[in-house]
Amino acid sequence: MNSPRELTPLFNPKSIAVVGASADPAKVSSRPLKFLLEHGYQGRIYPINPKATEIMGLKCYPSLGAVPEEIDLVSIIVPAQAVVGALEDCAAKGVKAVSIITSGFAELGPQGRALQERIREIARQHNIALSGPNSVGMHNFKTKAIASISQLFERKDLLVGPIAFISQSGAFGTAICALAQAEKIGFTYFVSSGNEADLELADYIDYVVDDPQIKVISGYVEGIKDGSKFMAAADRALEAGKPIIMVKVGRFGAGARAASSHTGSMAGSDQVYGAAFKQTGVIRAFDVQELLDYSSIFALGQARRGENAAIISTSGGAGVLMADKCEELGLTVKELGESTKAELLKILPAFSAVGNPVDVTGQFLSMPGAIKGCIEILDRDEQVDVIILFLALVWSQWEQIANDISNAARNTGKPVVVCWVGAPQGALDILRANGVVNYPEPVRCVKAVHALLSYGRMREHIIEGRLTSAVFLEPKVKEGPETLSAAEIDRIKARLSDIRRAGRTMLTEKESKDILQAYDIPVTREKLARDADQAVALAEEIGWPVAMKVSSPDIPHKTEAKAIALNLTGPDQVRVAFDKIWQNAWSYNKEAVIDGVLVQEMLKPGTEVIVGMSKDAQFGPVLMFGLGGVLVEIMRDVSLRVCPISSFDAETMINEIKGAKLLQGFRGAAPADLDSIKEILLRLSRLALDLQDYVSEIDINPLVVYEKGHGAKAGDALISVL
Ligand code: COA
Repeated sequence: MNSPRELTPLFNPKSIAVVGASADPAKVSSRPLKFLLEHGYQGRIYPINPKATEIMGLKCYPSLGAVPEEIDLVSIIVPAQAVVGALEDCAAKGVKAVSIITSGFAELGPQGRALQERIREIARQHNIALSGPNSVGMHNFKTKAIASISQLFERKDLLVGPIAFISQSGAFGTAICALAQAEKIGFTYFVSSGNEADLELADYIDYVVDDPQIKVISGYVEGIKDGSKFMAAADRALEAGKPIIMVKVGRFGAGARAASSHTGSMAGSDQVYGAAFKQTGVIRAFDVQELLDYSSIFALGQARRGENAAIISTSGGAGVLMADKCEELGLTVKELGESTKAELLKILPAFSAVGNPVDVTGQFLSMPGAIKGCIEILDRDEQVDVIILFLALVWSQWEQIANDISNAARNTGKPVVVCWVGAPQGALDILRANGVVNYPEPVRCVKAVHALLSYGRMREHIIEGRLTSAVFLEPKVKEGPETLSAAEIDRIKARLSDIRRAGRTMLTEKESKDILQAYDIPVTREKLARDADQAVALAEEIGWPVAMKVSSPDIPHKTEAKAIALNLTGPDQVRVAFDKIWQNAWSYNKEAVIDGVLVQEMLKPGTEVIVGMSKDAQFGPVLMFGLGGVLVEIMRDVSLRVCPISSFDAETMINEIKGAKLLQGFRGAAPADLDSIKEILLRLSRLALDLQDYVSEIDINPLVVYEKGHGAKAGDALISVL
């Protein structure tokens, strides 16, 4: 996805005008000009203010129109009521990028929203890339294009690094920038996206993905406007191997959605964000420290997949703590091979532990080159994917040790990640200058290593999963034996339109299953009987035992109406059941239109799971999977994925629920047919996309899953129309 607007003038402007630049140092509106000058921005700067002829030594223009040259970026910092006029001036001048700092828009309520809508219209009409409003401004740390009001820029010694940081909060975003600076993490760009009247998170990601200076995209997010646009931008970042690391807030409460069906009530929107992140390889950080720790390890650009960590430690205790954390997170700390151990023992004292963690003991200080030697030996061991080095204090000889680590790290083909607790500042400076990442605390170090390795693994699986399920991912583009023809899809749509026109919101079980069946989702054998004789004949045809249920568009909850009978083994039972179901249905709802009684194959027992689809306001159709019964109702043990899903998504959806073990063959039971569930999820994803303008919810409950190789069948199904 390429942004329709060119964002280079916004991120890398050659000239900047500040509309509303004030000479009064007490005013916020004096800051953008001051920072541009103090940081030494080399482009042309044009203050715009009708009251002045010169500000801070620069010629001041009464209006944008009076500037004799073209302007790349206009920073607007006039009161809200003057913003529309200022933006119209930008349009008249042919300006392509505008950053609005001013507050007083959608955050204020209906009037502010109308004003925001107006500036959005102007931007779209004149092809202006508009950032903000209600933002601290745009910041390029490298070129010093810092048209900002943030006090962060009172400091002049700001570090630059290969990270683009996009924040939906201006003040908190700059606080994170300050924390990053304190940890010696530098950014190239800081975007305060503000109210996102025009440009949104996805547009900024889309731009920086193509910027060769950027290796990592970090973000602070409160909400995403257009889920599919975000996922498309995140996909591009994944393909380019540029990790996105996001703190997404609003995890509790705010995500609750009003949804009537069982499925919908499970799909809290924060879970949908989590699903979208998993599907696009976005790394979710749960606090600012994680955001910075993960950003700094990826900033080195040492992408690596795998799961095997080797730990070298100067402390047995820290080695144990780190090994524990590795295993908790799913990294392995395998016993090293005999030849590696033998090599290590050649350079370490006999009392050192060399299994993994490798404990070099306090003796390493009297053995110059021991740490470097250990790194080199572990680099040669193919079983090792990453080398973690723990050191504490080392307040003498630190220079030698830091240089040794740097030299060894430079020559290895694997990431060397250091946790040096209580390190002298000089040692840290040497490591940093040599591109070696260091954490001051062991658990932070292991978490960052885990993020690094799991990103590599996820990236490969996601990309591969998409290739193997392309036919399900691209509705209407590719047609194969597994998909429906356009004519068949149109027929189903026409039927759904008829139902909608009739004022109905839900399909009957039979109607729902007919649609599932059209998508090759296995359902119970069943037919509709209009009288008891017909019901008996159908039961003979379907095979005993049978289930019987009322079929009525007006009675979606058949059990509540007592209009259901199970396990019927002979004609007499069928006749009695037919009359009882009809009678109960009629007493339950005297107005109900009754199509007949559904005579249905009685499913053999298997593992009951639930599969569903609901619509998310930001991300569109979302699939849900969970085990049936109490696990889904009480434990809320469900997994979600945004449609379309790939085969890898389907697989991880099944395996990530807590009860997955029950399906995998628990306590000697035969494993369930996971391939069938996967196939059904893929088909349902396809159905959900094909019919997304017609169907609001789908609930298959239960889907009965049999032993591996014996498939699965929908026992009951309910489709709601939009
Ligand atoms: N063209 C050019 N200059 C204009 C103008 C126009 N159309 N309209 C006003 N100005 C000038 C003013 O005369 C003033 O200059 P002066 O000091 O020489 O008189 C300057 O622009 C600023 O206007 P002023 O009325 O003094 O406003 P201010 O500086 O007190 O506040 C904002 C302006 C934008 C900073 C304020 O409205 C605001 O929104 N503050 C919040 C910003 C914020 O927090 N953003 C979000 C961060 S997360």
